[in-house]
Amino acid sequence: MKGANGVPPSLARHLPRHISAAAHRIGRIEDLRDEAERLEITLPASLERAIDKRRREYLAGRISARRALSDLLGTAFAEGDVAADDDDVPLWPGGVVGSISHGAGFGFAAVASASFCRGLGVDVERVVSAGQASRLGPRVLTDRELDLRGGENGGLTREEMFTLAFSAKESAYKALFPIHRRVLGFSDVELERRDGAQGAERSGDLRLRATIDRDAGVVATLVGWYAITCDSDGSGGAATWRLWTLVMSS
Ligand SMILES: CC(C)(COP(=O)(O)OP(=O)(O)OC[C@H]1O[C@@H](n2cnc3c(N)ncnc32)[C@H](O)[C@@H]1OP(=O)(O)O)[C@@H](O)C(=O)NCCC(=O)NCCS
Repeated sequence: MKGANGVPPSLARHLPRHISAAAHRIGRIEDLRDEAERLEITLPASLERAIDKRRREYLAGRISARRALSDLLGTAFAEGDVAADDDDVPLWPGGVVGSISHGAGFGFAAVASASFCRGLGVDVERVVSAGQASRLGPRVLTDRELDLRGGENGGLTREEMFTLAFSAKESAYKALFPIHRRVLGFSDVELERRDGAQGAERSGDLRLRATIDRDAGVVATLVGWYAITCDSDGSGGAATWRLWTLVMSS
């Protein structure tokens, strides 16, 4: 599963050329520390005593962010920390928007010029089990999304469709929070449309609508892209199914 900068090719091929994305496997802490040191990324003091998993996730996310920045802005931006504000929102160089995620064994980040879009959000998740999808479905999906899941989910299983809606909402939240600074719930963001996923290439386009302020009638339309990937450890062990989403608010 290698693509441009570690991003699955099935996702990368959908992305507008103005968006730079990168992914990095969450490997051993020693290897992540070596790579982080090479890129002049330091672990914040607040994470020095965090559990191993959190430190590995943080470093894989920041390594991805730095690679995406270098791709967008050139080698002068190949090294250094990406700090965060008090809300945990990453602080990008001036004129840049972006987002970081870590999950399902990968760090994942994307950046773009603020002249191309107002916000970007990324997310990577392990595809949930059938039991989790049925248990969590009504809490996470709107009635319309439940219909979408049941009726028009060509090419996707119920578990994949649930994970897609969940991940797209998380991405949308990350794209919108830095702009509006409002906490949104699952019912405030709706996956309106999903294309693709027929055939071997399990990827496609998304459209979402978010209600930012119901009383003031502030809404946002977002577009995005997704891919479902599978990789096995090569030793005959269980395969890992992942869902990647990247959403932009213009
Ligand atoms: C922010 C949030 C979406 C992160 O999702 P997650 O699945 O826990 O974690 P991910 O690995 O995908 O993303 C974590 C990264 O998101 C970024 N992030 C954290 N808070 C953020 C925010 N408010 N806005 C934008 N990005 C944020 C950070 O870079 C963080 O990584 P870091 O701490 O290593 O820097 C989630 O924790 C949250 O606050 N949710 C509340 C709102 C919500 O989920 N509503 C339902 C969907 S609309």
